[in-house]
Amino acid sequence: MSLTKEIQRRKTFGIISHPDAGKTTLTEKLLLFGGAIKTAGAVKSNKIDTHAKSDWMEIEKQRGISVATSVMGFEYKGTKINLLDTPGHQDFAEDTYRTLTAVDSVIMVIDCVKGVEIQTEKLMEVCRMRKTPVICFINKLDREGRDPYDLLDEVEEKLNINVRPLSWPISMGKTFKGVYNLYNRSLNLFRPSQRKLSDDIMEIEDLSDAKLEDLVGEHNADQLREDVELIEGVYPDFDKEAYLNGEIAPVFFGSAVNNFGVQEMLDTFIDIAPSPKSRHAEEREVAPDENKFSGFVFKIHANMDPNHRNRIAFLRICSGRFERNKPYKSMRATKPLRFSNVTSFMAQDKEIIEEAFPGDIVGLYDTGNLKIGDSLSDGENLTFKGIPSFSPEIFKEVINKDAMKTKQLEKGLKQLMEEGVAQLFTFDIGSRKVIGTVGQLQFEVIQFRLKNEYNATVEFAPMNLYKACWISSKDKKQLDEFVRSKNRHIAYDKEGKLVFMAESRAWLQMVQDNYPEIEFHFTSEF
Ligand code: G4P
Repeated sequence: MSLTKEIQRRKTFGIISHPDAGKTTLTEKLLLFGGAIKTAGAVKSNKIDTHAKSDWMEIEKQRGISVATSVMGFEYKGTKINLLDTPGHQDFAEDTYRTLTAVDSVIMVIDCVKGVEIQTEKLMEVCRMRKTPVICFINKLDREGRDPYDLLDEVEEKLNINVRPLSWPISMGKTFKGVYNLYNRSLNLFRPSQRKLSDDIMEIEDLSDAKLEDLVGEHNADQLREDVELIEGVYPDFDKEAYLNGEIAPVFFGSAVNNFGVQEMLDTFIDIAPSPKSRHAEEREVAPDENKFSGFVFKIHANMDPNHRNRIAFLRICSGRFERNKPYKSMRATKPLRFSNVTSFMAQDKEIIEEAFPGDIVGLYDTGNLKIGDSLSDGENLTFKGIPSFSPEIFKEVINKDAMKTKQLEKGLKQLMEEGVAQLFTFDIGSRKVIGTVGQLQFEVIQFRLKNEYNATVEFAPMNLYKACWISSKDKKQLDEFVRSKNRHIAYDKEGKLVFMAESRAWLQMVQDNYPEIEFHFTSEF
């Protein structure tokens, strides 16, 4: 098959939600449709249970599960779908943000009882920043949820995006009858089932057909006709371009656990979702159908077994054909890298592959050559944009409790930071090391892994910091002057970039006002 055909038949997307909205359940149903798994229950949630938070064996087990299920490839009606799962737990939000850099679109799951929740809002902000096309799946219609119109309003308001329903529920909760597919005007009736059923789809050419009353009852038939009329009146026709530009989100209703409304969404998804597009590198724009291969690492997963320090780097292919065993240029390594152990991620098994195409994610076994954000290419130096670090929310100072193991500690910290577990800032004065994270859980992970994998013992001392701001200025002299006068608050990130460690919002504001020529950035990429 030609490179262009391979690209066109690929759809790479991420699935995101607030925990418990039904992301795992929906993933499983999508895999069932793709024939990638045979039975329900095969996909394990990547949630870290609250009660497992201090149970290390449990967290390790769950990390294992989450790597196995974090990328799933399957075929559906001639389309190669690459589904990237994201950790729902908010402490791993940074991991999710990075995963979103590797996808071309997103499916967002919302619970119809709870509506838009906080984690969904944050994730949507990241999608908006990158203009990622989003499809919403409003789940759990078999429960007494909120009014569908209210839910649509809430999505528009809280997620700050226009919506266009492409399916519509007929009743809800105990009396849920099914969904009407507004995209291709067919009716899918509800029969609770864990398996896929396509025989329940009725083609209704015209909603005024009296068959509708027989199928859903008089009251529901009237209501549906009224709703559809209203929707078609209120919402403009679905505009695919606007969706592809991230300006409008098509919305589907359904019940994932009952496999309802899922196929409507999947069929529409393969029709409208984007194939891999050009990507911005600092040097130039990279088109997927270029002959030469390029890609970037967006995630690194370490082996938890201390005897095997190998890691798996997740590579998103951006252009050309990736081939096993071919020497590729990494932006930092002096010698070309060659990968013999290249895995694709199918739903349950990892398998060795010979080649991969733009949109695909492959796993590379790595012994420490690759870092998050690194690019690989067929010769050219490329730096793909869009993998920034965000300012962490919790900061703690690293206290070395075993001076004999200082070297191990340094090495461990370096490797964990390369995996993107957290961010390390080193203060200009006294070389104090501070770790910044999005959640408390990472400190426990770091402490445990430093001990277990590197034999280094650390404790953490809380620090009263509000934000880490990357600083820059067009005026080098002013920047030097600022660094000198604020040197107690200046640190370096792992790339050696200058960071201003602000203690409070008010103080940061004051400093910003006093130094108008200094730019303060809340992400590392500016
Ligand atoms: P997550 O990955 O987004 O965190 O959510 P997950 O799929 O694990 O679903 C969270 C809970 O919601 C699960 O119940 C799941 O069965 C349920 N669920 C998913 N889809 C639907 C739906 O359409 N209707 C209803 N009523 N429930 C749904 P649980 O009790 O936490 O787990 P389980 O024991 O049922 O697996």
